[in-house]
Amino acid sequence: MLQLPPKLPYAGTTIFTVMSKLAADEGAYNLSQGYPSFDCSPKLTELVNRYMKKGCNQYAPMSGIPALRESLAEKTSRVYKVNYHPEDEVTIVSGATEAIFCAVTAVVSPGDEVILLEPAYDSYRPAVDMNGGKPVYVTLRAPDFKIDWKDVRDKITDRTKAIMINSPHNPVGTVLTRKDLEDLANIVRGKDIFIISDEVYEHIIFDGMDHQSMMTHPELKERSFVCGSFGKTYHMTGWKIGYCLAPKELTAAFRRIHQFITFSTVTPMQYALADFLKEPEHYEELSEFYQRKRDRFIRAIESSRFKFSPSSGSFFQIVSYRDITDEYDYDLAVRLTKEIKVASIPVSVFYKDKKDDKLLRFCFAKDDEMLDKAGEILCRL
Ligand SMILES: Cc1ncc(COP(=O)(O)O)c(C=O)c1O
Repeated sequence: MLQLPPKLPYAGTTIFTVMSKLAADEGAYNLSQGYPSFDCSPKLTELVNRYMKKGCNQYAPMSGIPALRESLAEKTSRVYKVNYHPEDEVTIVSGATEAIFCAVTAVVSPGDEVILLEPAYDSYRPAVDMNGGKPVYVTLRAPDFKIDWKDVRDKITDRTKAIMINSPHNPVGTVLTRKDLEDLANIVRGKDIFIISDEVYEHIIFDGMDHQSMMTHPELKERSFVCGSFGKTYHMTGWKIGYCLAPKELTAAFRRIHQFITFSTVTPMQYALADFLKEPEHYEELSEFYQRKRDRFIRAIESSRFKFSPSSGSFFQIVSYRDITDEYDYDLAVRLTKEIKVASIPVSVFYKDKKDDKLLRFCFAKDDEMLDKAGEILCRL
């Protein structure tokens, strides 16, 4: 009998797959997995079509097509006033998930420690584990989930190789402030520690706040892999196209991994995005667009027994159900999907020890009718 080695023994099928399938089987409103229920711009699909018909259907260069790297570098300089050289500091990959995996693999060797702030997006820990690294957790605590930088400092040892940061944050919807960047810079100064910054929701940030990208702090930029995703910004998460912005030497290490993970990323989509990125309206209007969605959803559940503070960014709203039931959050999410036909994600899945703070995550990147209907049902609980 062949013995399979115990790789990622804790990992079952991801909760997103489980809940989306359950929602489909049950005919429930799917506010679980983080993807829009509406389509991307027809202009974008027309561009893909055009480039496919033009014959842009073979392997793209390993680092991404030059036109997209240039467009992205220009956009980054326009939005953040920060320059990355398109030739050797910008890499196009197959989704932010790949960017995160390649960045972790580029810097983490067996025995190295990586600080993860939990609740944490579910791909971080496996990326560290698959490289023989040791995840070291700093827990963000309800209700405000602010980063306790003293706790981060206390967890740093001689083996700490990287810190993973995510802002705007999935699942809790918090965003980093300038002061957070200063605190982080003070902690890592003079130390051999890399930052892997997951900024996939960079353009989805509310109430007039600014996205504090890692790249805007010169000291942090030098040690950061900034990971982004076109999927979140352009409503086409299924294309799985992301990128990594990092200084030259970090990019060289990143590409050494990327070339053997996927080698290159789907070609016609890259050409389409290279053109589309030149029109800033879409990402400039995105925060307002999603703020309306957030507001619509929280208005719809205002008279419910859920308690919440409005999300500051991402397309997620977490709510506390302590006043309704003391069920385990996973059981509740499954029960609500089956019984009242509204699917959510239990927040405990984002904690290593499945810490249950009686919180559910709802995705409001959904059409208005779905938000209203789901809200109406949730108010009856
Ligand atoms: C925080 C976070 N990081 C990364 C990703 C993955 O992005 P991509 O689909 O581009 O791989 C997601 C997707 O939900 C996310 O929420």
